[in-house]
Order: sequence, then structure tokens, then C-alpha cells
Amino acid sequence: MPDTPSEGLARAEPAGMRKGLTSYGDQDFSLFLRKAFIKGAGYTDTALDRPVIAIADTGSDYNACHGNAPQLVEAVKRGVMLAGGLPMAFPTISIHESFAAPTSMFLRNLMAIDTEEMIRALPMDAVVLIGGCDKTVPAQLMGAASANIPAIQLITGSMLTGSHRGERVGACTDCRRYWGRFRAGEIDADETADVNNQLVASVGTCSVMGTASTMACIAEALGMTMPGGASPPAVTADRIRIAEQTGAQAVQIARDKLTIDKVLRPAAFENAMRVLLAIGGSTNGIVHLAAIAGRVGLEIDLQALDRMGRETPVLLDLKPSGQHYMEDFHKAGGMATLLRELKPLLRLEALTITGRTLGEEIERTGPGFAQTVVRSVGNPIYCEGGIAVLWGNLAPGGAIIKQSAADPGLMEHEGRAVVFENVQDLAERIDADALDVTPQDILVLKNIGPKGAPGMPEAGYIPIPMKLARVGVKDMVRVSDGRMSGTAFGTIVLHVTPEAAIGGPLAHVRNGDRIRLSVKNREIALLISDEEVARRAHDNPVVEPTAERGYKKLFLQTVTQADKGADFDFMRAPQIIGKTPSSR
Ligand code: FES
Repeated sequence: MPDTPSEGLARAEPAGMRKGLTSYGDQDFSLFLRKAFIKGAGYTDTALDRPVIAIADTGSDYNACHGNAPQLVEAVKRGVMLAGGLPMAFPTISIHESFAAPTSMFLRNLMAIDTEEMIRALPMDAVVLIGGCDKTVPAQLMGAASANIPAIQLITGSMLTGSHRGERVGACTDCRRYWGRFRAGEIDADETADVNNQLVASVGTCSVMGTASTMACIAEALGMTMPGGASPPAVTADRIRIAEQTGAQAVQIARDKLTIDKVLRPAAFENAMRVLLAIGGSTNGIVHLAAIAGRVGLEIDLQALDRMGRETPVLLDLKPSGQHYMEDFHKAGGMATLLRELKPLLRLEALTITGRTLGEEIERTGPGFAQTVVRSVGNPIYCEGGIAVLWGNLAPGGAIIKQSAADPGLMEHEGRAVVFENVQDLAERIDADALDVTPQDILVLKNIGPKGAPGMPEAGYIPIPMKLARVGVKDMVRVSDGRMSGTAFGTIVLHVTPEAAIGGPLAHVRNGDRIRLSVKNREIALLISDEEVARRAHDNPVVEPTAERGYKKLFLQTVTQADKGADFDFMRAPQIIGKTPSSR
């Protein structure tokens, strides 16, 4: 970097340290001052003249899913410097699923704003986004999409599996399974404490196809990671190598000015949805994809997504839909193996962050090899996509069900509603002996939507009432306007839109009403007349939740429904320019 500030400012397009100067009313002085301060950290002019590659560091003592962040930052920096750039790490909010009250989703949009505004505020030519735990990757992609600079995603990677009394275990499908066994009286408190030590065997994200693994695969399918960037576990050499490559590629996209809007195109979202369906991915993936798409002016077409689902088999044999874990997927070749198998269904012309198309990247991976984790199209885990979209008078704006993780015997079911008004009501009554419930009933939970809880918590996985769990009931139809962890399983209808808290039909369901679920017909129906629903709405009008101040007030005033990704309305692109997937 030249020592004379005006020399740099004479360039048509400021780059590196000259970008986004702080406003003091004198641009030359602003650069002079910036250089003076950064030199306090020992930088030379030669270093400061390189392309600046920022690294969004989401390491946090509260977030074991990002426990390898220091090593990743170091490896990214190495890659950046090998490629001739100057790495500059900066912290942002970090969100862990179990360390965020009331729910991590309440904070996703805040992290997206933090990421976007720091990208806008700090001088950088490209940014590496280090994310992993469920909400972090979507938050970073949302923020980077709005800031629209060259950006590349680096996934922290999955945890290793543990072993409990000879049985392989991993968070968090097995967390729920063992907790369910404890509730049913099948294991005692001592064994529960023992397995607690084994469920999370290392740092890294959940080891099954939960939301974190889903978003990792989606990020690669979108073209936003290095090829092969989704699957290496957090503690492996492969993960560190991907980090180094990511740093080097970040310098390249800075030089090529490969801004994120060139990658996040309709074809990329279509590929992401195809992969979401084929991996038996978390239902949360749809909400996050809708939010990311909304940032670039695209809407998710749920009808088209459902049509895609009917022609996209589940190929990945991972829990909770199958039996393996993420480290097995990595050993089976990771996304290269899956994409090779899915190739006829993909939009191969989609540009990726390497500057090559997805089709070219698939070609570069070469032939596959014998493995048992990714099935062939002719021998799938489940013959349709993992997720089906439902409509009906109970969900005029749509609802979803993860059919690949549901009980086939309950997919066509009519039953009596057993209603819980909110999570507190659920906690107080679900295990009561006096609860009037049978295995054929349908459990309904209201007010856990975007505004209801608020933050659309993962409470849609309504526990089986204790008295039924104790007699061996493992699954029941459950309906709510909330979300469910991608690690959970069951016949569970989620994201009912509009939610109860803003007066959706769900708000007016009463104990004893009949509800019909037909996954075959893509229907979730409340079997009472429209007039009766209208009468109930008139007699008991819904009062929407409000807050007096702060972030919660902003959230309640501006959060959108699940079909819009539960993003804030003012953060979405000002104009919607199209829908994805295309209805070809
Ligand atoms: Fe972080 Fe599951 S808790 S990925």
C-alpha cells in the first residue's frame, strides 16, 4: 500500500484497506488514520496493499459446534496468504441450539443483520463465513446475500460419534431416543447420565442429518462452499484442508469480483431444494432457504417444491431417515457421491463459487466407488423426497411433514384433536394421568409460530404423553405452527401457516374436533365448517403478541411467516423478481 493516501484514493474502485472509509469529512485523512491504527498491530504497507479477505469468526465458548473455529481461522489465513491476500478475522454473534433462549431461531435474523452490517462496515474484498450450528449458516448466507460482495461459506463440520455400552450414538437423534426411553421407564437415571457423556464425542455439529448437516449440504448444493466442503467432520485433516482451500479461493473470488448474486440464482436454489429432498434433510431447511432466497428477491414456490418432491427419492441413508452418521457420509465420498447420483435431476449450468458450474464440478470428481451410504436412484431409502407440502383449511398457507421420518401407518389418518394452547400448557398437562388421550388422537400445539413463542421454536416435536409412552406408543400424529429439530422423527405436521398467534385457523381448533391428515392427497384438514371457524374467530378474536421495547419489539412487528422464511419484512429484497424452483 502506498504511504501517500491520495495515491490510493485516485483509483476508480477503492479496494482492500481503501474501501468503506470512516466518515470524518476528509477522505485522505480517513485513510491516513486507518493505516495509522492498523499499523499499531504491526502491519507493513506491503501487507496492507494486498486484497483484504475478511473471516467471520463465530467461535464462542458457548458453542461447541464451533469448537474448532480457532484451527479453521488459522487454516483459512494460511490459504489466504498463500494466494496473496491479507486475512482479517472479525467476530460476529455465534448461536448454539441449546444455549439460546427462548430459541436460536429468535436470534437468526439478528445474526444475519450483524453479519451484513459488519461486512458493509469493514474494508474487505471478500469474506469467508465460518458457520456450522443450525442457524449460523443461514444467518451468514442471508447477511452476505444482502451485502452482496464475494463470499464463500466454510462449514465447521460434524462431530464424531460416541459409543454407549457397545452401541454407536450421536447427537441428536440418539439424544431424543434415549430421552424417550427414559420417559418410558426403559432406562434409569444412571444410564441416562452415562449416555449423556457419549452423545457428543467431539466438537462439531450434530452427527446426523439434522439442520446443521442439512444446511452444510445445501450450502454446497448452492455452490457456496468449496467442492466437498459439506461433509468432513470438524476434527479431521480433511476439514482443515478445506479451510485452507477456502481461504485461497476467497482471494480468487475477490480478484474475479465474483459477487454472491452471481451464485445465488434460481438454478442454485433449485439444486439446493433437490438436495434437501434427496438427503431426507431437516424441515428447517425450507424455512432457511426461503429466507436466503428472499434476500435476493426470490420466493420459494411450495407447490413446485412439492412436485419436485414427488420425483426426488431419498438417497442418503443417514439418521433420522436412515441409519448412518455424517462421518460415514464423508467416507462414502460426501456430496460428490450424492450429486453424481442426482445428476439427471440437477441444474448443471448453475455457477459455483469456484467459477465453474456444478456440472463441471461433478465431472471433476471422477467416477464413484462402492459404498453403502448413498443409495442409487433405483434403490432409494424412500421413493419420494423427504418432505411433503400439505394444504387444507387448517393450513391455507401450507404446512409440511417430513414423510421419510414418519410412521407409514399414520400418513393417512383421521383422529380427535387433543389441544394444547401453548408450550406452557403443554408442559403442564402432557404427562398428567388425567389427560384424555388415546394413541389414535391427534396432538395439536398452538402458538409456537414465528410470533407465537416468539421465534418459532423447535417444540413441534410434541412428546408422546407419558401414559401412552409407558405402554409402548412410539408415534402419533402431531400438528403445530412451530418447527422441529432435523434430528427428530415422527408423523409431525409443522409450519402450519398462518400461525395461531395471528389468527390462523389453527387458533380455533378445540378439543374433540376431528382432523384429517392425508399425505397421499397432501391434505391437512379441520373437519368443521368454514362458518363454524368464522364463528369461533368472531367470538374469540386473537390478540397478537406485542413487546414494549428492544429486539423483541422489532421481531414481533416485522417477522414474516414460515413461507417467507420467518425473516424480517424489511430485510427481504425490496422487490420479488421471481420464484424458485421453476415449474418446468
Ligand atoms: Fe449445533 Fe446440533 S446443536 S448442530
